[in-house]
Parts: sequence; C-alpha cells; structure tokens
Amino acid sequence: MLPGRMSKIRLDFWPLSDFPTGSTNGNFFPADKLGWTQIGHLFVLDTYNDRWALVTGASSGIGREFAARLAGRGMHLILAARRTDLMNELAQDLLTRHGTTSHIVTIDLATADAGERLFNEIQRLNIDVELVINNAGAGLIGDIETTDPNEVRRMLTLNILTLTDLTYRLLPGMLQRGHGAIINMSSVAAFQPVAFMAGYAASKSFILHFSEALWAEARSRGVTVMGLCPGVTETEFFTLAGAPGWLQKHTAQTTTRVVRKALKGLEKRRQYLITSWKDYLITVFVRLTTRRTAVNESKRYFRPGRRLPDQSSDHPIDAGTRKKDDTFTG
Ligand SMILES: NC(=O)c1ccc[n+]([C@@H]2O[C@H](COP(=O)([O-])OP(=O)(O)OC[C@H]3O[C@@H](n4cnc5c(N)ncnc54)[C@H](OP(=O)(O)O)[C@@H]3O)[C@@H](O)[C@H]2O)c1
Repeated sequence: MLPGRMSKIRLDFWPLSDFPTGSTNGNFFPADKLGWTQIGHLFVLDTYNDRWALVTGASSGIGREFAARLAGRGMHLILAARRTDLMNELAQDLLTRHGTTSHIVTIDLATADAGERLFNEIQRLNIDVELVINNAGAGLIGDIETTDPNEVRRMLTLNILTLTDLTYRLLPGMLQRGHGAIINMSSVAAFQPVAFMAGYAASKSFILHFSEALWAEARSRGVTVMGLCPGVTETEFFTLAGAPGWLQKHTAQTTTRVVRKALKGLEKRRQYLITSWKDYLITVFVRLTTRRTAVNESKRYFRPGRRLPDQSSDHPIDAGTRKKDDTFTG
C-alpha cells in the first residue's frame, strides 16, 4: 500500500442543466449525499472525493485512463490487473499528482475464482467500494479453424464470469448503504453479431443486457449500473486480440474521450452509453436493417487475410474490397 493524502478536494465544473433536482430516485448518490456546492454562478461536484473506486484492467488503455481521471477527482483506488510494474508506476504518478492512495492487486481475472479472490482482498482491506469500473477485458479475432477453444474459455471467463461475479458481490453493500455505482465495460459490438469476433461480440451483448437489467433493479435504491459501449479506441486491444496494425487503418477515439463521456453519462444515471455519435448511428442502422444484412456486413471488419471457402461471393465486400474509412464496431 502506498501512503496517500486522505483529504483532497478537486473541483469539477458541471453544466447547470445537469444539476440534480433533489429527487433521490435513480440518483448515483442520494440527494443528501451529493457533494454539490455553488461557487459564484458555477456548480461544483466533489462527490467522488475521498471515496474508493475499484478499477479492473487498470494497467493500460481505458482502465488506466479511468484510474487517472478518478484520482483527479480525489478518489482512492484499488487497481487490479496482471502487470504489477505498470500499476506501480501509475500509483506512484497518481500519488505525486493528486495525493490519492492506490492499492494494487496483481491478479489473473480470467480464472474461475478470480472475482471471489478479488472481493476477499477488498474485504480484507476493509474498504467500502463506492464506484466499480469493471473494465478488464480481452478480444479474440480469428476464423473457426484457427480459434483456440481454450483461449475462448479464458476470454469468456474474463469478460463475463468475473465481471458478473464482482457485480453480484459488490452491489449488495452499495444497496445497503443506499449509494454507489458500477460501470460495466461493454462495447458498440454488443449491438450486433460480429463475424470472426463471434465470442467477443456475444460476450459484450451479455454485459450490456446484464447491466441494463441491474440498472432497472437498482436505480430506485440510489445505485446506478451503467453499460459502457465505446467504439474503436486507441489502446493495445486490437494487437492483443490478434489484429496487429488494424488500429492504424481505422479511425479511433482516444481513451480520454471515452472516459470523459463515461463519467458524464454516469452522472446522468444513464443505463448505457455509446461514446460517439458515429457509433450510435451504426447501432441505429443495425436496428433498422435485417439481422442477416447486419451480420453479413460485419464480415468485412475482421476477415482473416487467407482465402476462405466462402470468399467466392461476388459481393464487393466479400471479395475483399475494403473501403479505407471502414469502421469497426468493437
Ligand atoms: N479498444 C477498443 O476499441 C475497445 C472498444 C470497446 C470496448 N473495449 C473494452 O475496453 C476494455 C479495456 O480494453 P482496452 O481497450 O483498454 O485494452 P487494453 O489496453 O488491452 O486493456 C485491457 C486491460 O485489461 C487487463 N486484462 C486483460 N486480461 C486480463 C486478465 N486475464 N486478468 C487481469 N486483467 C486483464 C489488462 O491488464 P494486464 O494485461 O496487465 O492483465 C489491461 O489493463 C475491455 O473490456 C475491452 O473489451 C475496448
């Protein structure tokens, strides 16, 4: 554990239109616990200050950005992932810049009992977690013959089982306290099946539906659960998923944008959030078209380079004429 300054006030300016009306229903925090203050004509949010957040997958990408943003708002952090050195570096940086405390938990979250072990560690630390960012996740890109079932099992354990386990272990405490929030990392891939990324996209659909259902169950009790659905984002994700160089050929959002939008969505108690208009329009297209068209369209994103039996189609997309501005929905 790193020593940290226990009291820190960071002022975040929020638009007047977002100022809560006083109703406790559906609030991230009940009205009497909201840390809103007025300075001049501006409202200031310090709700996060000195509370604890759990960020899984905090060693890189979107999780790392969440950790940095939340520490910037004065939150103390439990950082969980496998790469201890990267988390140590981050914790030290956050301590220097924001004076916040970080506990590091080195853990492989793709194992069956990972959720339970992480929860036990949080219990041992005697910490009430106010905000959970269930972010750790991995993708797997490939065709049927080359996809390793063991890798699929690990991915589903990480993306689905551990996330579900942690959610059910941490939600009861929040409900008992009457405040708290969970952001579950889904994807814009949750809105459609994606060929050559079948298991990943399906896992993200699970996360979205799971989160929305819990949002409905918990919202009247002061707790928010939000499914976060970013589109393509600049991280190590595609390289690790098996498509190195893919990101360079496609437009992508920054992690800063994704996290800024996510926290804004959380303040509005959204049940899910797509982080860009372009990705939102893709989901609208998917809803308007047939399921057959949607899944056939998805074949162009991750078709492996080698020739497959069904590539005899004369459809221009199937024939491999990718447009330069094709956007991936994962
Ligand atoms: N990048 C995108 O375009 C995009 C779009 C939509 C949704 N997402 C989702 O966003 C989340 C974060 O991904 P990212 O884009 O930020 O990619 P990333 O940079 O690869 O980050 C993934 C994080 O998850 C952790 N992780 C992976 N496997 C783990 C395991 N077995 N045990 C513990 N931690 C593990 C990694 O830490 P260690 O390697 O240190 O364990 C890392 O911190 C994922 O759920 C992903 O599905 C990404």
